[in-house]
Parts: sequence; C-alpha cells; structure tokens
Amino acid sequence: MLQNDLLLRTLKGEATERTPVWMMRQAGRYLPDYMKLKEKYSFFERCQTPELAAAITIQPVEQVGVDAAIIFSDILVVPQAMGMEVEMIEGKGPLLPHPIQRYTDLHKLDIPDVHEKLGYVFDALSLTKKELNGRVPLIGFAGSPWTLLCYMVQGKGSKTFDEAKAFCYTQPDTAHRLLQMITDTTIAYLKGQVAAGADVIQIFDSWGGLLSPADFEEYSLRYIRQIVAAIKEEVLTIIFAKGAWHSLEGMAATGAHGLGIDWCITPAMARTLAGPAVVLQGNFDPAKLMAPIPVIQQEVKDMLDAFDGHHHIANLGHGILPYIPVDHARAFVDAVKEYSKVKVTS
Ligand code: CP3
Repeated sequence: MLQNDLLLRTLKGEATERTPVWMMRQAGRYLPDYMKLKEKYSFFERCQTPELAAAITIQPVEQVGVDAAIIFSDILVVPQAMGMEVEMIEGKGPLLPHPIQRYTDLHKLDIPDVHEKLGYVFDALSLTKKELNGRVPLIGFAGSPWTLLCYMVQGKGSKTFDEAKAFCYTQPDTAHRLLQMITDTTIAYLKGQVAAGADVIQIFDSWGGLLSPADFEEYSLRYIRQIVAAIKEEVLTIIFAKGAWHSLEGMAATGAHGLGIDWCITPAMARTLAGPAVVLQGNFDPAKLMAPIPVIQQEVKDMLDAFDGHHHIANLGHGILPYIPVDHARAFVDAVKEYSKVKVTS
C-alpha cells in the first residue's frame, strides 16, 4: 500500500486533497549527495548498479520532498541494449561514436532480449520499490523512438538534430525501419519495468518539437501511439513531447493518462487543445528556479491558478538544471504543496 498516492489518483482522473509535484531529472547533479557518488563511479556504473541507482532515485524524495520517485537511468540505455556504443562525456553529454547512417547499419542492431540486456534496470526498480517501502509511487521511463533516433543518427547532442532530420527526409524507409525496431524494443522494455514495479511510465520525447506537425505525426506520434496502446491497460502513462503543443489533441487521443507541457504554452491553451479529460503535467520554466525564493513562490501560485487545481501534476516544463540551489528546488515543491492545499479547501 502506498502512503502517498496523489500522483496515481490524479492520473486516474480523481480529485485529490492537493496537487502532486515532482521534477523531471530530479535525481541528479543539483544534489550534493549525487555529486559525491559521481566522483566514485562512472555514469553507466551508476545506472547499472541497482544499489547506486536506488540510492540516487530516493535522494530527491528524502531531500526535496517530491511526491514521486523516477528511476535513475537514461534514455540511451535502449540504443546501448540494441548494440550501439554509448559514452557519456563529462561536461559534454552523450557520444555514440558509430552513428546509424544507412540501411546496412541496421544489420548491426538487434531487438534484444530486454531481460538479458536491461535486467539491471528491472533490478534497480525492484530494489527501489522495496527501499521506498510505499512512501511514494515509482515512475519508470523510456525515450520516444524519435528522440532516440536523434541520438542514434546524429551521434551526439544537438540543438537542431539536422543530420537526424536529413536521414529521415532522404532515407524515409530506413528511418521507419529503425523507428519500428526502437518501438518494439521499448514496448518489451516498458512491460519489463511495469513487471518490476513501476507505477507510472513516462515517455520522454525531448526533441518532438523539432518536427513540423505533419512530420511529428509521421516520425514520432505514430510510434508513441503504438507504445501507449501496448501498455496503457497495464500502467498509468504520461507522454512528454517538448515543444509539440500543436499535437496535444493527437497525443490525448492515444489514451495516455497524462500529457507534459513546457512553459511556452499557457495551461488554458493546452487544456483547449488537449480536451477536458486528460491530466496535464508541468509547466514551470526550469530556469525560473534561479529566481529568489519569494519569486518562485509567487510564480508557483500563478501556475497553480492557471491550471485551476484540476487534472494537474505540478512539474517543470523540462529537466531541472544542474546549478539550481537545493533550497530553491525545495521551495518550488513546498510552494506547490502549501498553496494547492489552500486552493482545494478554500
Ligand atoms: O531524475 C530523473 O529524471 C531520472 C534520471 C534521468 C537521466 N536522464 C539521468 C541523467 C532521466 C529521466 C534522463 C532522461 C534523458 N536522458 C533525456 C530526456 C529528458 C530530457 O532532459 O530531455 C535525454 C534527452 C537524455 C540524454 C542525456 N543524458 C543527455 C543529453 C545527457 C547530457 C546532458 C545532461 O543533462 O547532463 C545525459 C546525461 C545524464 N542523464 C545525466 C543524468 C543525471 C548527467 C550526467 C551525470 O550526472 O554524470
């Protein structure tokens, strides 16, 4: 039994005593205890050792007071499990030294047995679940097929992913074959996460907003739809497609329980596009956590008023930045807890 199931009840469409709150990328570099583990173990060692992943996952629950834990891992463990080399370069981000360029490169990839290649994530989830001991729900996740294609083709981070887009527009059949391989792997991977104890699954489409509405449908939503269809009867599901606000209606039609939005759209506009039923998650500008605490508190009130306390999970509009002071992150979480309670009872 969960002691705090606000997130789950909200995603099921139930009214709750206050708005649940968590932060994307909450397990990570702004926490001093994370930085201590980072000195001793490499990024993938941290992901692959269930004891480390569980400890990192629980840190923000204990130190910041969020209403959910999200398993410490990375979206790039999927391309790694499919056979690609993935390095995490300190200060730079991911590097995939042998990116996919043409059809024959797909022969080097597998649709792996997820228990064999990603069993460590399932072990981390089971251990975390045990150590959480019902304090808060546990969120599992995966990257969307489009966002993973971006890294697998471009080979590194980018603001525009123009090589990944050029690959799709010049070799669409190869792109679709790759997207389908990622989709098939992801469905098996997410089902494994659910079996290991994930209460909610979030699909991160961090680069969905780089595509036109028509290309978003063609290269991203089409595959997200397959994933959601495969898991939504088993688990509560959230889609976060950053910048793809134009397709909120289509995302709601997948049957996902929640949709993430960033700070470039108002909650009212998002609600109009997404329809009345789906839960919206967001949408605090992560850089605003640098503002003085009284400003954060005021802006949280404004955000909660704009969502009207209804079918809403408070979150940032993208991941927390590495240099945010912990007390500012805590002020954000506390402000949601206090003000949303006042709103419900008044
Ligand atoms: O708290 C959590 O949200 C769980 C952990 C988590 C990580 N990555 C750990 C991580 C999650 C959910 C992710 C998702 C992820 N990874 C996304 C989607 C979310 C988003 O921010 O858009 C993406 C695009 C990636 C790929 C990735 N991993 C990049 C681009 C980078 C480098 C840039 C950066 O943010 O540092 C990573 C590295 C990474 N993944 C770190 C962490 C804590 C930082 C590296 C380190 O601490 O050593």
